[in-house]
Amino acid sequence: MVNQVLDRARAQVYRAKQYDLSSLNGISDRTLEVHFKLYEGYVKNTNILHEKIAEILDKGRVKQEENPAYAELNRRLGFEYNGMVLHEYYFGNLRRGGGGDPGRQSEFHRACESSFGSYETWKNDFVSTGEMRGVGWAICYEDPANGRLSNHWVSLHEVGNVAGFNPILVMDVWEHAFLLDYKPSERAKYIEAFFSNVDWQSVDRRLKVCTVAR
Ligand SMILES: [Fe+2]
Repeated sequence: MVNQVLDRARAQVYRAKQYDLSSLNGISDRTLEVHFKLYEGYVKNTNILHEKIAEILDKGRVKQEENPAYAELNRRLGFEYNGMVLHEYYFGNLRRGGGGDPGRQSEFHRACESSFGSYETWKNDFVSTGEMRGVGWAICYEDPANGRLSNHWVSLHEVGNVAGFNPILVMDVWEHAFLLDYKPSERAKYIEAFFSNVDWQSVDRRLKVCTVAR
């Protein structure tokens, strides 16, 4: 029992993924370099927090006097864990030479029509969500029960994620995502640049519910 949880935490560390995203439209290599470093920080901190929590669990039942420290570690884990995973979705839905609109016959386009009436209405909702004041994320999710798409604002990294929903398109609107390329007041330009780099094939691959079932 001794060190069992800690050993497991150490054996199951996350490693930062590598993304080849140089020469995107309107999002500079320098911005991406800084952004990858931030992402690596989330991976590192997720591993550190897992280890710290495991150290406490290895001592047996969490004592009452330890609970505030334990609770704080858990709260921070939610921030770091979601920060790591959301950045992987974000980098994973970008590619050099991407952009344009999704093909009319694509799964995603059809899902937009089914859920919003049209792709244009879906995009209006998603962009408007991304332009909300504050730092966070605009995320298009698929409801795994029926394939319906909906767009949500996520504050920081962990507030507003819909439990069990499947992230389909993830856009980082923290200022670090665009501040080297645009002014803080120019978030709309960054969002336009984001859309000119979307990897719609990767977006399609994330959809799990067949359009026939809608
Ligand atoms: Fe970010």
